[in-house]
Amino acid sequence: MTWAVVPAAGRGSRFGGERPKQYLSLAGRTLLEHSLRAVLSHDDVDGVMVALSPDDRDWPGWRDLGGKPVLTCIGGAERADSVLAGLQALPGTVSEDQWVLVHDAARPCLRALDLARLLTVGQADPVGALLAAPVRDTLKRADRVGRSQSTEPRDWLWRALTPQLFRRGGLTRALEAALRAGVRVTDEAMAMERLGLKPCLVEGSEDNIKVTTPADLALAEFILAQARA
Ligand code: C5P
Repeated sequence: MTWAVVPAAGRGSRFGGERPKQYLSLAGRTLLEHSLRAVLSHDDVDGVMVALSPDDRDWPGWRDLGGKPVLTCIGGAERADSVLAGLQALPGTVSEDQWVLVHDAARPCLRALDLARLLTVGQADPVGALLAAPVRDTLKRADRVGRSQSTEPRDWLWRALTPQLFRRGGLTRALEAALRAGVRVTDEAMAMERLGLKPCLVEGSEDNIKVTTPADLALAEFILAQARA
């Protein structure tokens, strides 16, 4: 039994606009609906817990999608708080040892094959796994006035994507420890790494983008249209 937790409590302040970005429409569905359907599409995924903002006025009240249960809880101030709230709100039937997928509401272009590979590799790993993409650009370190000061080696560097797959109990404890220590973890793998654990990097498609700006929305629409064609 694998459940998914989808943090969707962000305000999308970098995006601007009145509606939170997860409720913007692309290809006839909201960003959030694309992301939820993508994680629920795999047979191993039994249901999803969505963490919403306390002042969310756009949630359409789904109780199920594609025949699988959709539950909601209230998220927190940071992404990690929302993920933790989602983990804590999962049904009691999801044991500490069971795997949980965490997927951003803002990543609507997740491919079924990437999800399948993550589940296969992650479930066979003692720690867990995340989708990621190797860094391909040349990396520059800026000085304080925005001039290029040096070039960073990109060997061994990856960009973390979602979903990420960890056991419910281990991830809950790792996120709680990070929050207690005042460390702002930006993904689940970072919380595990702090405890000396090394999640497995599973190479995923570059087009599993996080929609952050209006330009990303147009790109996501194009990617989804290509995937359908
Ligand atoms: O802001 P960013 O795009 O990095 O957020 C990534 C994901 O985390 C989004 O799906 C967003 O809704 C979610 N989030 C959240 N709670 C927060 C901040 C972000 O659930 N407090």
